[in-house]
Formats: sequence, C-alpha cells, structure tokens
Amino acid sequence: MQLLSFLLSLILAAGPGMLIPKPVSYEPAAGHYIPREDGKDVRVRMGDKTLQKVVKDLPAFAAEEAYLLTVSLRGIDIRALTQEGADRARQTLAQLRLLSEDGTLPCGTIIDWPRFAHRGFMMDLSRHFRSKDFILKQLDAMSLLKMNVFHMHLTDGAGWRIQIDSYPRLTSLGAWRDGDTWSEWNRRGSHYLEEGTPGAYGGYLTKDELREIVAYAAERHIEVIPEIEMPGHSSEVLRAYPEVACLGADGKPVYSSDVCPGSEETFKLFQSVLDEVIEIFPSRLIHIGGDEAGKQSWHNCPRCRARMEAEGLKNVEELQSYLVRRMEKYLNGKGRNLLGWDEIMEGGLAPEATVLSWRGTQQGFEAIAMGHDVIMSPTSHLYLDYPQDAPLYEPEGFGSYQPLSRVYSFDPEAGMPAGGREHLLGLQGNLWAEMIPTDEHYEHMMYPRLAAIAEIGWTPQDQREWTDFHERALAFTELLQEQGYHPFDLAAEIGERPESQQPLSHLGRGARVTYITPYTQKYAAAGDATLTDGQRGRWGYADGGWQGFDSDLDLTVDLGKVQPLHYVGTTFMSSIGAWIALPEKLEIAVSEDGSSFQTVAVIRRPLKDETSTMYIPYGAVLNERARFVRLRAFRADAPQHEWLFLDEVEIN
Ligand code: ACM
Ligand code: ZN
Repeated sequence: MQLLSFLLSLILAAGPGMLIPKPVSYEPAAGHYIPREDGKDVRVRMGDKTLQKVVKDLPAFAAEEAYLLTVSLRGIDIRALTQEGADRARQTLAQLRLLSEDGTLPCGTIIDWPRFAHRGFMMDLSRHFRSKDFILKQLDAMSLLKMNVFHMHLTDGAGWRIQIDSYPRLTSLGAWRDGDTWSEWNRRGSHYLEEGTPGAYGGYLTKDELREIVAYAAERHIEVIPEIEMPGHSSEVLRAYPEVACLGADGKPVYSSDVCPGSEETFKLFQSVLDEVIEIFPSRLIHIGGDEAGKQSWHNCPRCRARMEAEGLKNVEELQSYLVRRMEKYLNGKGRNLLGWDEIMEGGLAPEATVLSWRGTQQGFEAIAMGHDVIMSPTSHLYLDYPQDAPLYEPEGFGSYQPLSRVYSFDPEAGMPAGGREHLLGLQGNLWAEMIPTDEHYEHMMYPRLAAIAEIGWTPQDQREWTDFHERALAFTELLQEQGYHPFDLAAEIGERPESQQPLSHLGRGARVTYITPYTQKYAAAGDATLTDGQRGRWGYADGGWQGFDSDLDLTVDLGKVQPLHYVGTTFMSSIGAWIALPEKLEIAVSEDGSSFQTVAVIRRPLKDETSTMYIPYGAVLNERARFVRLRAFRADAPQHEWLFLDEVEIN
C-alpha cells in the first residue's frame, strides 16, 4: 500500500498533480504519452455531452471556461463548450509540457472550471514606466495561470502613460519627470519636464502599442481594463492643464493632486480622454480610480463651492460622488460600466458601479449588500508591493510582510453575508511600483505570489491546501526561472521572524504596564498586555505583535515586588517607507515605590541611518533592586515625526 501511494505520488509529481491552479478533478491513468511538437495530436470537440452534464448547474462564466482534457496513449482530447474553454485546456497543456522533465505527459483526465469570473492582476505603470514587451511577457505568465483580467494603472501623479491625441500635454509634459526613480523624483520636488529634456525620465504607451497589448491579451482570453485616475492622484494632469485645477483665494490654480470637480474643463478633459480610451480598450468595465482624493482644495475653491450649491451637495464626499456619477452616466452612454476603488462609495455610490475593494473586504461586502458587483483586492493579502520575506534581505519596499503563505490564505468569500456570491466577481493582486525601478525587481515582487492569486481565483476553496500548494509553487518558480523570469527564490525563503515563533520567558512577563503616553488604537496590538505578554513581533508592523506610538514613549512596568534586576531591554522596529523610525535614545529608570525613579541606563540609537526595515534591540545590563521599571524613548528630530514601534519589554 505504501509502495502504491509512493508510486502514485511520483505520477502526480510529474504531471497534473503539479499544476497551478490545481484543477477541479484529475483522474490518473496508466502510461505516458509523448506529445507532438506541432500540436496536431490535439483533438478538440465542442459541445460534448459528458461535459454538458458536468457543468449544467454551474454559473455561465464557469461553464464557458470549463474543459475536459484527456491524455491517453492515442493522443490528446479536449472537450469544451466554447472556444475559451478549449483554450483553457490548451493553457493547462502548455503548463504540463513546461513542467515535464522528459517531454512526456502522464495519461489521465482533467475536468476543470473556474471558481470566479474575475482573476486579475493590476500593473502600476505610472510610478515606473514599463515597456510593451515587458507587459506581453507578463501576459504569457498570466495565461499559463489561467488569469483573465489585466488591469493597467495608466495614470497617476508620477507619470501619465497613455497617448491621448486631444490633450497632448498629458504626455508631452505629464509623462516625463525630473528623477528616474520615484524616490529621487520626490526628493527633487516632484517636477515634470518637457518631453525631450535631457535626463527626463518617463515614457508612455502609444495607441498602437496598447492595441497590440489588448489583442495579445485577447488571444489568451485576458481582458485588459484601463484605469484613468480621477479626481485624486492627478497632479500630472493639473500641471499639463492648469484649467482643471481648483482656484485659490488669489484666483490662481492650486497644484494639489486633485482635479477640480467644480470646473467644466475637468469633465471636458476626462470625457475626451475616455472617448479615446474606449476606442482602444473593448472591456465592459472602465476604471476611473477614485481613491485617496485629499479634497482639501475643494473646500475653498469658488468653482467647487458653486457646484456644491447648485447641485445641493452637502460635503466634499458628495462632490466626489457627483463627479463619479457623471462619469458613470457618460460611460453608460457609451455602452460601458464604471469600475472604481472603494472610496467611490463615500458620498453615495453611482447606481451601476462595480467596486474594487482595496482597504479591506468589508467595503466590498457593503457594496454587495447594496446590490453592486465587487472585486476583492485587500491590502492585507493581495498587495504585492509589500516584502515577501525577511525585510532586511528583500529590496526596500512599502508596507507590511506579505509572504506567499499569507497571500494564499485569502478567501474572498470569508465573512461574506449570505446571498452575496452572485455579486462577488472575484479578486486581483495589485502591484504598485513606487519602490520598483527595474523590470527584474518587478517580476521578483510578482512571482510566485501571482500564482497564489491565480489559484484562489480558480480552484474551489475546499480543495486548496497550503503545503500542497507550496510544493507546486516551488516547481512553478523553477519553471518561471527556466523561461527567463526573475521570481523571488521561494526555495531560499527565510520565513517569519524567528524570535516571534517561540514565547519569551522573562521576569516581566505578565507584569502590568501603565502608559504615560498612549499607544495608537490602530496599532494597539494586544492592548495593555502587548509589551509583557512574552510574544515578540513578527516581520510586519501591522501583524498584531508590534505596538505603535505617534509620540515619544513613556511607560512603567510594575513587577509586583521589589527584586534584583539584571537586564532591561526592548526591540524597536524601523521601516522608513512606513514612517517608522528608531528612537534617538531610550532611558531606563527604576523605582522601589513607583514615584521616585532613578535613571540607570541611557541607550543611544546604535545606528546613524536606517536604510531599510530593521529590528534593533535597545537594552542594558543592570545591577539594581526595584519593583518598577520606567522606559522613556525619544524620537529623532526628523522633518516628519516618525512613529515608534516596539514589541516586548524584557526584564530579567
Ligand atoms: C490604492 O491602493 N490606493 C488603491
Ligand atoms: Zn475646485
């Protein structure tokens, strides 16, 4: 029996058992088949009765993509109900061939269909520009993974990336900047440069290039959804066309990152842009952004105030909603539907809009409850710009720790109210590029995490299992490497912060902490128990083990009785991209009575500069007797006041 299961595991290891996404069902058969190079041994039959019976209760999208693939000693048979289904089988076949070490395919039958209609990936082209060829290469990998939506974030403050003939300065100025990395551009004051200026960084995709991308994707059954950001994230638009900026008290344009919803010029510009976008992209959904508008300039702008008055809008949220609704009406008039980030719900959601829920899943569930379609892409699991391994060894990045296992653990339906499934279109990964100047680095962030997203989108939830996926992800990573991609080297993964994996015993464990300066509620971790619960923080500052302060820190720990103390220390985290820094110094004081304290150690910042995410112990050896220990940490005198994050106060 053991031998049999060993042999079976060999068969599975070589073939369909290693596929990503894992198919709905796989029945192995005896023997191996050597496929022909020219593919002429692949027989395709449409409208097959067996398959029809299997898919009769599935939703339409799943039936359309369903396929039955049989490899036997006589050749390869595909059965499907649509061309798309047949091509999904071919994508499975393509991956099987790449996974095969000896060129043979194990015999057997796969019956397969997707869990969700929307299995997407968003590429940020603004913060760092990426070429058409790079994009086509990623579409090939998406195709192997049976992903079917490519969302292009084409415009943002860091550069406008799509040719628009009616407003040429969007690219002749808006696509070029002073500073070839996003960070350098910011350091130099975020200036744009005229196209052709020596040293100008940037670029844009021409309409011909975009049409080629759309066609290439369509051949692989990938729909391309363009995003044109408004009203926020639009500083490049204001600089190119100041007439869409709000007016200040002096009557001059205000160069914030938001366009003016009071100005008719704003609607003229974006509607004209959308006209040209629609000509290039046939997608039903057109993304109009909608996230993170600061809305500050709207409060005092005479045009915005006039608009609010005329339309009876109570606040700036309703003013944003006015803009989104008008854009929706415009798109609907052209036979398209509006897609936006979840902030489009604030101030009233446009009637037909689809919501891309990024701040969490709750916003998405609320939209579903109102009868809207929703795509899930929460930062907590599906943001691929966050580091995927020990941050010190990874390229500098934004955000918390997002390993493959965490991405894979996401279930878009978890917490969904009953009856919501029909409106949950699916999910997508988002890869923002602020910190990603090179193509190699971009692929490093994308893979293999994109494979996890593909599998969540395709494979039934109850058939997904982490250790099994991890094995397959190792093989897929190797496959990508062989195909010239630069994935994160999963085989060399370090994993979670070792100190956090075991509880820490120390004299102060369980002791009561009194906060003289409070921690912030957002980063409360385990509240008052956090710093003496014996639990060290994990890599991510938002993982629930780290407590955050946006002030200097001052607290006391009560050990319950006077006793000998030999060591007091803690660990501070720094993460420059997240405005978390090491304190300039930590003062340790002790007391027998809790009122009269004596400073017994001052620990200065042990590093001059922090360059990435770090976890730095501040501690002192003591020879004291005390009941109370007081810690005071002082922040650097930085231009922005950075936060302090610590995980445990260790006392021995
Ligand atoms: C977003 O991450 N601002 C959508
Ligand atoms: Zn305005």
